[in-house]
Amino acid sequence: MSDFLSIDNVSQIFGPNLTTGEKIAAKLGGKVETRSVRAVSDVTLSVRKGETLGLVGESGCGKSTLGRLIAGILPPTSGKVVIGGAPVMKNGSKVTTRVQTVFQDPFASLDPRMKVGNTVAEGPIAHTLTTKSEAPSYVASWFERVGLDPVWVDRYPHQFSGGQRQRIAIARALAMQPDVLICDEPVASLDVSIQAQIINLFLELTRDLGLTSVFISHDLSVVQHVSDRVAVMYLGRIVELGPVAQVFGEPAHPYTAALFGSVPKLVLDAEELVHFDTIEGEVPSPLSPPSGCYYHPRCPLATQTCGATQPVMQQISDLRAVACHHFEKQQADAISG
Ligand SMILES: Nc1ncnc2c1ncn2[C@@H]1O[C@H](COP(=O)(O)OP(=O)(O)OP(=O)(O)O)[C@@H](O)[C@H]1O
Ligand SMILES: [Mg+2]
Repeated sequence: MSDFLSIDNVSQIFGPNLTTGEKIAAKLGGKVETRSVRAVSDVTLSVRKGETLGLVGESGCGKSTLGRLIAGILPPTSGKVVIGGAPVMKNGSKVTTRVQTVFQDPFASLDPRMKVGNTVAEGPIAHTLTTKSEAPSYVASWFERVGLDPVWVDRYPHQFSGGQRQRIAIARALAMQPDVLICDEPVASLDVSIQAQIINLFLELTRDLGLTSVFISHDLSVVQHVSDRVAVMYLGRIVELGPVAQVFGEPAHPYTAALFGSVPKLVLDAEELVHFDTIEGEVPSPLSPPSGCYYHPRCPLATQTCGATQPVMQQISDLRAVACHHFEKQQADAISG
């Protein structure tokens, strides 16, 4: 397997987000403190053809922003995304249909006034993947593929259940014949029983169509189930990357360990039934990230170096990398003796 999707040193800075009053003050020549949000910082990743990369991290760490950058929905402030050697964006515009997205809320992502068959046909007709006359059978084949009855093409989104709407959203994405699928919390708004159906559909389709995908979810068990490798994000940066079994089984970064520890667990032999290990401290604001390692104010292992210098991603084995001074030290100690 060779690298197929390359995310090359991508950053996204939003802002400054000025209030109306501040904008007026700035116009009048007043001194206004600017507040830019560094939502994604220097992210470099590559995904092999046919591989699913899971993306996890706390709310607000930049997962959706990174997903939108990869999908070409948002032009990056710097860096580039390349699929099979071709850039996703040129001069701030998306220039490929090879990457498509499935979002969390299918109701919001489907036009309520449009028959779902037309919603699925729209893109493929515009990009000459089918003709107007062949579109009905083209759409019907995608409906069947995602487990929907093709007779439903003339219905409107509100006539479907949440799970069916997500199937329509998946059909719309796949009818564009992408090589890469970005799924941003695709099952988060669905009932647990429906979640399993959609996850199984995702696994079946990615395997059968040979899709490369990035799967964003705050649900670690879902990510563990669908991903080959997982990338852990903290405050806009990737802090750990590796095969899912290794990262979940033996986290290298203290944040990964804390994140996995914060998953609700059943403690059968304890007095209380449900036990939460929460991560110490608050997520720092991306408006003013800490110095050094962004995780150091919450990290139980933090040293002076952690507060002073930002750790870089270091390869720790063929497929694993981590950005942590503590891990660097551990490795140096192991080598010296
Ligand atoms: N359009 C925007 N303008 C300004 N700031 C933004 C914009 N979009 C996202 N942000 C900020 O960028 C940061 C990352 O947001 P993002 O939505 O990517 O996080 P996330 O990891 O997907 O969170 P969640 O798990 O809650 O979905 C947040 O601080 C967010 O407030
Ligand atoms: Mg998000």
